[in-house]
Parts: sequence; structure tokens; C-alpha cells
Amino acid sequence: MDAITTLDDLECTGRRVLVRADLNLPMIGGRVSDALRIERLAPTVGELCDRRARVIVISHLGRPGGKAVPALSLRPVIGPLAAGLGRPVAFAGDCVGPEAERAVAALGGGEVVLLENLRFHPGEAADDAEFARALATLADAYVNDAFSCAHRAHASIHAIARLLPSAAGRGFQAELDRLEQVLERPARPLAAVVGGAKVAGKLALLANLSQKVDLLAIGGGMANTFLHALGVAVGRSLCEREAADTVRHILDRAKRAECDIVLPTDAVVAAALAEGVESAVVAIKAVPADRLIVDVGPATAEHLARRLGQCRTCVWNGPLGAFEIPPFDAGTTAVARAAARLTRAGRLITVAGGGDTVAALRHAGVVEDFSYVSTAGGAFLEWLEGKELPGIAALKRA
Ligand code: 3PG
Repeated sequence: MDAITTLDDLECTGRRVLVRADLNLPMIGGRVSDALRIERLAPTVGELCDRRARVIVISHLGRPGGKAVPALSLRPVIGPLAAGLGRPVAFAGDCVGPEAERAVAALGGGEVVLLENLRFHPGEAADDAEFARALATLADAYVNDAFSCAHRAHASIHAIARLLPSAAGRGFQAELDRLEQVLERPARPLAAVVGGAKVAGKLALLANLSQKVDLLAIGGGMANTFLHALGVAVGRSLCEREAADTVRHILDRAKRAECDIVLPTDAVVAAALAEGVESAVVAIKAVPADRLIVDVGPATAEHLARRLGQCRTCVWNGPLGAFEIPPFDAGTTAVARAAARLTRAGRLITVAGGGDTVAALRHAGVVEDFSYVSTAGGAFLEWLEGKELPGIAALKRA
């Protein structure tokens, strides 16, 4: 953590501080449906306000492609942001130019303004120096509290950090600290539970994890690709046959690193991935040719729960089955609850994040029980792959 600058290093009193937040929040019917990212931002904004900084919050929402798309305005976020921060939030309809300048000039010490979606300007995703300069003219200092965007080399994450005194916010710092703790200095044995539909985007992650963890449990659609590579017939299941060579290579490297790869020994199969279809539990070597694997079976879930009981740290990414369609949530829920019980008992440190993971854990009712649930999707995965993230590199001490 010494490697990056934090709020402790930044002179903020009375200054205009640009805070890069991730307010790319899930919305249902134009309303914010999950405010966890606001909760995580609140300590940074609170601390800056207490230090009488004039706080300018910037973020993207969705992927408007460099032009103003009214459906992706940050306006619906003003209310939830004010509620989460426990203070009023002003708004400007543009993130650069006269409207933004007027809104910032009107701010007093300890006050907050939210600027409109950064990605309404093409310069944001292009990491454009001109656009970064336009943002920088609004402020005296820059704080990045959007760890979940750290994998994007965008102007508000990357180029801007060269233009202003810069630091990580408390949320960013906590996230990085937790991730470093689990992968760089974990209490061992260290387990990784990796699920999700597709293996293609996660091969690099699995390759990196196989060199770091003691136990790598693979579920979800990607387990089928592993099973197929080992010669197990997976019926009509989702399976990336072309990845077989890479998968065998990962298995080989895992073996050499003494990483124990755990694959399902039984599965829930169905004729279709749909609500209300009939399903059955079969041994993994007996998946019928006309059926799909939709979840890990109860014996696999029990085995995983037992193995986690022998570990001290667990990093979790992705569901083990099609958890959105009950009863195919049973495997994910059973293993997640076992991990939660071990965490509550002080026997396991559990860190989860990436993609569908928060939704799957919320569904299992264990978000509060895990030691740490990251709000990052792609950034969490790229971190697990071992990549250097541009948003972290930009905050490195000189
Ligand atoms: C996220 O939700 O993971 C971040 O906000 C990044 O969003 P992006 O994938 O559109 O860059």
C-alpha cells in the first residue's frame, strides 16, 4: 500500500478536489437499484468535507460512446448520492466547460457537486490529454475513489493524475488493501472459487490463480470446458471446445505449482435453461447427451464446503450454476452459505468480487457475512489476472 499516494498525502483544506467515483450503478426503470458503490464512496467524501474541501464528484454511467445520451444522465443518481453521503449534492449538466465551472465556483468549503457523465465526451475513453486538462482546470487536487474503474486507461482515471496532485480515496485504498491481503500475503491454505458461464475471458485469471492458490475450485459453465478437456462428456452444456489445449496447459501448470484443482463430481442437469423445467442430479460421468449442466450437484457442493473448512482464506468470483433460475441456485447458495458460516466463526477470510458475484452472494443472503465484497467487476478480474491496472499505476509514488 506504501506504493500509492492516499488522502493522508494530500493537502485538501479549502481546496477544490476532483473525486473520480464509480457511479455506474445498476438501474431498474431509471432508478438506482443498488447503492453499494455510494456507501463505499461516502467515507472519502465525508473526510474531504470535514477538511472543508470543495468536492467535485465525477463519474461515468454506462457506455454512451462519447456523445450525450439522455438515458445515461447521472441526474437519477443525485438523490441516492445525497442520501448516501448524508449531505446536499448540487449538479451540473456538463463535466467540463462553463456550466461545470459555474457549479464549481458556487461551491463553499465542505460542499459537494456532481458533474454530468464523463463518457458524454469522446476524450474520456480516449485518455485524451486535452479533455484531462479541461477537467483539471476545475480543481486543485485529484482523488480516485473508483477502484472498479482502475482497469480503464481513461482520461479521468489515468491522464488526469499527471496534471494535479493525486491520491487514492479511502474506498480505493481499502479495496486494494483487501486484494493485496488475499493474494500477496494470505493466511494459507488459500482457496479460489471461480465460476461463471464462460471460460474464454477467464483463462488468464485461472492461469495466474493456479500459481498462487492452494486449491482452485471451478464451477459454472467454465467447469464444463475443463471436464471436456479431460475427456468427460458434458452433453449439450455450454462448453468452449476450442479452449481444450489451453485448459490442459493450465491443469499442467497447476499440478507443477501443487495447486489442487477441484472440478464437479456430480451435476444438476435439465433439458433447457428455463424456469420450471424438470431437472435431475447425475454423476459427472453420466451426463445424458441431450441434457445441459445447470448447476453443481449436492455432493460437489458438500465437498467444496468441506474443503473450504480446511482453508484460511478464500477468494470468490462467479456463480457455480445458473443461480438466476431457481432451483439452479442451490449449489452456489450452499457453498456461499458454508463460506459465510466459516467466516462468521472466524475460521475463514472471504473476499469476493467481479461480474455476477455480488448478485449471486446477495441472492444467497451472505453479502454481509463475507469479510469483503468488492464492488469491482472487470477491475477485480484483471487484478486477479495479475495485470498492472492503469488506475493504480497512475497513483504510484514518484
Ligand atoms: C464497472 O461497472 O465495472 C465499471 O464502472 C467499469 O465500467 P465499464 O466496463 O463500462 O468500463
